[in-house]
Amino acid sequence: MNALRVAQLDDLDQIASLEVEIFGANAWSRAAVAAEVTAAAGGSRHLIVSSCGERVVGYAVLMCVGDTADVLRIAVQPEHRREGRASTMLAALRDIAGSRGCRRMLLEVAADNAGALEFYVAQGFADIHRRRGYYAGSVDGLVLEKPL
Ligand SMILES: CC(C)(COP(=O)(O)OP(=O)(O)OC[C@H]1O[C@@H](n2cnc3c(N)ncnc32)[C@H](O)[C@@H]1OP(=O)(O)O)[C@@H](O)C(=O)NCCC(=O)NCCS
Repeated sequence: MNALRVAQLDDLDQIASLEVEIFGANAWSRAAVAAEVTAAAGGSRHLIVSSCGERVVGYAVLMCVGDTADVLRIAVQPEHRREGRASTMLAALRDIAGSRGCRRMLLEVAADNAGALEFYVAQGFADIHRRRGYYAGSVDGLVLEKPL
């Protein structure tokens, strides 16, 4: 079952372990995930999860400031990819951003993350800036934008 819901404080453990599984050395620490979940509960972030029964198998984090909505994270557990989960989460973030009066969405992705780049381009994002050597190993960061 591919269900979407707003994250709860109870989801912290599952999101923190998905972070490590998906992002490895670049994972947010448990404290950082806790800060995001707490910020979401307080309304300064929007955090949604994609679930399969009781299990969280994907999550996405949005921050709205002024006319810009930043996608801070979007991730799906490997065995649940290509099920449309990230697309569904991004659509939900887009709706939230629109309702907050944002005019554009921004995100940053490593230039060597080919799968994520294909996903974002398929979702209508375009490359607007390159940050040379931004990631570990001198990998460039790409800033992508989608007007709303
Ligand atoms: C990028 C990511 C979030 C996509 O999640 P997903 O749930 O598999 O994406 P969807 O199923 O919604 O994909 C929708 C479309 O995007 C494109 N797409 C998604 N992943 C792709 C990949 N690895 N390679 C090529 N195209 C891809 C396809 O067009 C796909 O449609 P299709 O399956 O009908 O061909 C997921 O691969 C992931 O978690 N990656 C690791 C974390 C990450 O890199 N996050 C982004 C960092 S900025």
